[in-house]
Amino acid sequence: MRHFTSVTQLGNLAEAFAKAFEVKRNPYADQALGRNKTLLMIFFNNSLRTRLSTQKAAMNLGMNVIVLDVNQGAWKLETERGVIMDGDKSEHLLEAIPVMGSYCDIIGVRSFARFESKEADYNEEILNQFIKFSGRPVFSMEAATRHPLQTFADMITIEEYKKCQKPKVVMTWAPHPRALPQAVPNSFAEGLNLTDYEFVITHPHGYELAPEFVGNARVEYDQDKALEGADFVYAKNWAAYNDPNYGKVISTDRSWTVTTAKMALTNNAFFMHCLPVRRNMIVSDDVIESPQSIVIPEAANRVVSAQTVLKEILLSL
Ligand code: CP
Repeated sequence: MRHFTSVTQLGNLAEAFAKAFEVKRNPYADQALGRNKTLLMIFFNNSLRTRLSTQKAAMNLGMNVIVLDVNQGAWKLETERGVIMDGDKSEHLLEAIPVMGSYCDIIGVRSFARFESKEADYNEEILNQFIKFSGRPVFSMEAATRHPLQTFADMITIEEYKKCQKPKVVMTWAPHPRALPQAVPNSFAEGLNLTDYEFVITHPHGYELAPEFVGNARVEYDQDKALEGADFVYAKNWAAYNDPNYGKVISTDRSWTVTTAKMALTNNAFFMHCLPVRRNMIVSDDVIESPQSIVIPEAANRVVSAQTVLKEILLSL
């Protein structure tokens, strides 16, 4: 593996899970692999889990780590080619990227959808410039359309907690006051389409995801019906994808909040969310604090997913 931008690049899923569980059992077994290798993590957006778990994963592999928050302390970056740079942006990404590449062996990039242009977001313009111009292996720490390290951690968690071979997994939209990207739900759907689980997506009308991510999932507009018999409930908010509402909040209907009454419709399902989560918008206090909530082990598995991927990239150097 050279670049990692999608869970589809994990290859054989059973083998990827086996590698992940081996990393989890023996996190320090590959300390020599990363010796004298440097990971540079570039953040265009905020993070708690991705930043800490990826750094921890790299340290478990013996790597040195440099973190740059682009918006805190770096020169303000221009990202469009052809712009006359007479404004407040002092440096162009086209110089900054190869310079950053010269200081490291592997680059992780977090660059969310900006919701200024659907085309720019869905072409992954920032992430792809890193791939093209850095000269280094690049992995996504959540880009405009996908969050593959999160999805891999989610899938590892489902593998650990599932009580039957083909669990029913329901991804439900839930309300949020701000417009959030589709990266997490896109990526989760992409990952679940790689499995033979029963996979249902439920959301209000107008929140349809891009068809290439929905894949073979069943889309059910009645949330209660979707939740019936679920083994896992994966809650997430996302902004509208379809035009003319791309990137907009078109509903904050709190009847979609995951409550104890909603969870009662399920097969005693486990509750999952990538975090950070807005309590009593996305999920009630009672549900997230219940024994069925596995959001903390899910977040802990972010180290496992990042370490498994970083190890594969190191092996390819
Ligand atoms: N789930 C996730 O990526 O969390 P952060 O945004 O805090 O990194």
